[in-house]
Amino acid sequence: MKILSVDTGIKKYPIYIDSSYGSLLSAFEEAGLTGRSVCIITDTNVEPIYADEITALLEGHFTRISRYAFKAGENSKNLSTISDFYKFFIDNHLDRKSVLIALGGGVAGDMCGFAAATYMRGISFVQLPTTLLAQVDSSVGGKTGVDFLGNKNMVGAFYQPDFVYINTSTLNTLPYREVAAGLAEAVKHGYIRDKSYLDFFLENREKIKALDSGALAEVVYGSCRIKSDVVSRDEKETGLREILNFGHTFGHSIETLSDFKMLHGECVAVGMLAALCFSHSRGTVSSEDIQRCRELLEYFELPVGIHDFDISAIYAQMFNDKKTKNGVISIVVLRSIGDAYSDKTAGEAEIKAALEYICK
Ligand SMILES: NC(=O)c1ccc[n+]([C@@H]2O[C@H](COP(=O)([O-])OP(=O)(O)OC[C@H]3O[C@@H](n4cnc5c(N)ncnc54)[C@H](O)[C@@H]3O)[C@@H](O)[C@H]2O)c1
Ligand SMILES: [Zn+2]
Repeated sequence: MKILSVDTGIKKYPIYIDSSYGSLLSAFEEAGLTGRSVCIITDTNVEPIYADEITALLEGHFTRISRYAFKAGENSKNLSTISDFYKFFIDNHLDRKSVLIALGGGVAGDMCGFAAATYMRGISFVQLPTTLLAQVDSSVGGKTGVDFLGNKNMVGAFYQPDFVYINTSTLNTLPYREVAAGLAEAVKHGYIRDKSYLDFFLENREKIKALDSGALAEVVYGSCRIKSDVVSRDEKETGLREILNFGHTFGHSIETLSDFKMLHGECVAVGMLAALCFSHSRGTVSSEDIQRCRELLEYFELPVGIHDFDISAIYAQMFNDKKTKNGVISIVVLRSIGDAYSDKTAGEAEIKAALEYICK
């Protein structure tokens, strides 16, 4: 097992990375969370696979174990589901000392975290992420929330868990398309912060795609290390944390225009290629760098181009991005591979030129 630490200044907590749930109970003991009532929040896909195992591991060490499974999918990520959670918590006598467990992907994590942040003005919660995207990205950093009236993550809170426990073997039951979406975010971490982590992908892509447990543990560990370092330095995204949006200004636009038919990670993959082209136009990365990224994403079966999208529509949609303030679009640009900054000087022509590369 590997352990990392997140320290936002206000809260410090561990991330455990393991290939089973064998040390989960010890993690609860270490955090001083046993002997309380606990509620597992999960979705209808994950519950039948993992919830019994977790319940059996915790049985006898908590005063009460309850479980709530919401209908799997982004469509459930709203205030109505949160309201159902609160009712369930009251029916099951959850109090200020109770603990919530987020068991599932980013949807379970974001909603469980938001419920924990708000129920009785804040109770403890832990993250047990079961998708690669949640393991390398959403379970770390404390962003929680729900969508509202079609606006992604419009209502939420920064709220850190008491610990994150990642069991990488859960990825064996995850559909490959979802695995690939998580890989896009992991590759992103290499581009913005750590060239040697990116090189690991280039050198071990066969093992990674075959879900080799050692390779996956390295991927998850490397991403958590990078993300926890960035959020420890800037919890509330006032500066450095913005670099985590590499590929996202382009990606979010495409995600919205695809009517969310493309997965977030897939949009990040094409968005990353556009961001590399943008960096190339600023003279910081070579065309070989772009080609290498393209080949890697293609190998992982991620999209490297989009069809039937209108460049002007993608550009126009970028003005609706949460990161666009006062009409100024933010684009994360590479200074070199492994070093990024958020740029606010992008002009229409340069942005459209980058989009041309990915629009077929
Ligand atoms: N908080 C953050 O910092 C942050 C960062 C990135 C994304 N997000 C959010 O994360 C969400 C996306 O997360 P996601 O991609 O994990 O989606 P998800 O939670 O919907 O999971 C994807 C699918 O995989 C299924 N699943 C989960 N684990 C499984 C397993 N081990 N085996 C089989 N099936 C499994 C789920 O039921 C679901 O159908 C979005 O709502 C996004 O806004 C949050
Ligand atoms: Zn993302």
